[in-house]
Amino acid sequence: MVLPLIKISALACLVIHNEDNSALLSDEEIEDNAVIIMIGGYDTSSILLTFLIRLLANEPSIYAAIVQEKEEIAKARPWGASHMDDLNKMKYTWRVAMETLRITPHGFCSFRRVLKDIEFGGCPIPKRWQVVWAASMTHMDETIFPNPSKIDPTRFEQQAPVTCCLVAFRRPRMCPRYEFARIETLALLGDLVHM
Ligand code: HEM
Repeated sequence: MVLPLIKISALACLVIHNEDNSALLSDEEIEDNAVIIMIGGYDTSSILLTFLIRLLANEPSIYAAIVQEKEEIAKARPWGASHMDDLNKMKYTWRVAMETLRITPHGFCSFRRVLKDIEFGGCPIPKRWQVVWAASMTHMDETIFPNPSKIDPTRFEQQAPVTCCLVAFRRPRMCPRYEFARIETLALLGDLVHM
């Protein structure tokens, strides 16, 4: 229910007019933005949650650690604390989600325009070329993520993801709905696991 509401309010923003009643965006721009919101919001959180549930079924120790975190948060909950306070404390659970996105990134690849002449891996790449990068390869690069095939949510405790290397929500250009996806994922996982 929340997702359709977000989409409706986003679509309302797209059709906003200036005071003189002229449109802010052309029909083509509205169409492009509407499509990207549909794609961005539809197959992203649902894929992450699907792989997370599979991971919890296959990895009892990770499931147990999430339950333990939930118990500790519940025990230490001060009077009047909100559901949001609890979600913000679910650090381990979020690392499990990040590790799931590392191993099974929902976007296999994307494109970037080269802004200046560069060299990569010995190959010259001229300015204005379009390059494709693949998250699934970067995420399995052992120079960035040691022992990459191992499911290890604690890897994000020691080392913050290097910019442009963990491509989950991407940095420096970020998913505009990162916070929404985080809250949605943690709220569902918190309800799903049982103490
Ligand atoms: C697990 C959940 C999600 C992940 C991992 C994710 C990840 C991403 C990534 C990697 C990008 C591309 C950034 C780039 O171009 O470099 C992106 C873009 C985008 N995402 Fe998300 N996303 C998620 C959920 C959502 C949700 C729930 C919505 C909307 C309700 C959403 C809306 C968008 C939109 C509109 C863009 C395009 C932004 C632009 O072109 O400037 N995403 N997302």
